[in-house]
Amino acid sequence: MNTIECIKSRASVRSFKPDKIPDSVLDEILDSAVHAPSAGNVQDWEFVVVSKQDTKNRLAGAAWGQEFVSQAPAVIVVCSNLRTIHNAYGERGNSLYSIQNTATATQNMLLAAWEKGLGSCWVGSFNDEKVREILVLPSHVRPMAIVPIGYPATEPKKTRRKKLGEVVHKEFY
Ligand SMILES: Cc1cc2nc3c(=O)[nH]c(=O)nc-3n(C[C@H](O)[C@H](O)[C@H](O)COP(=O)(O)O)c2cc1C
Repeated sequence: MNTIECIKSRASVRSFKPDKIPDSVLDEILDSAVHAPSAGNVQDWEFVVVSKQDTKNRLAGAAWGQEFVSQAPAVIVVCSNLRTIHNAYGERGNSLYSIQNTATATQNMLLAAWEKGLGSCWVGSFNDEKVREILVLPSHVRPMAIVPIGYPATEPKKTRRKKLGEVVHKEFY
């Protein structure tokens, strides 16, 4: 699968087979994440890999009951180390680059997973404080995305995209 095929065929997966993901595959997905670009190459991302059922259940609860989070064999919580990004860029680092950097890393993970025949979903709707507590995150580490990953139980449906003409402006807005 080439890059464009991977980007265009990927879809969010919200139902998973219980099959374990080989460690080597999970490592490849994480390694793809850390190859993402980041402002000043600060790489403020950090990842908490969760496979214990009790923790996954609690994360699903923190994500307002999105049960599919607990059904994935692996859940990766993408975090930003705000201390490192703030040291480099101050307020702009905290409020913008931390989000952008971890977003690029998260997207790399979704694509790498898809290329490996795995499904995943970017979960952004969660209670930060609850996730913090469950994962024992220090106060300078902010959870940015919860990414459940597993072999798809059903083929996901492609969602509609706006036409280029609706979103592309030439020269001026
Ligand atoms: C920042 C962000 C937050 C999201 N949060 C959730 C979420 O909490 N729960 C969920 O089921 N999907 C979530 N999604 C997935 C989107 O719903 C999904 O990407 C979108 O509908 C397009 O579908 P596709 O991923 O299949 O192309 C999120 C996606 C992004 C980028």
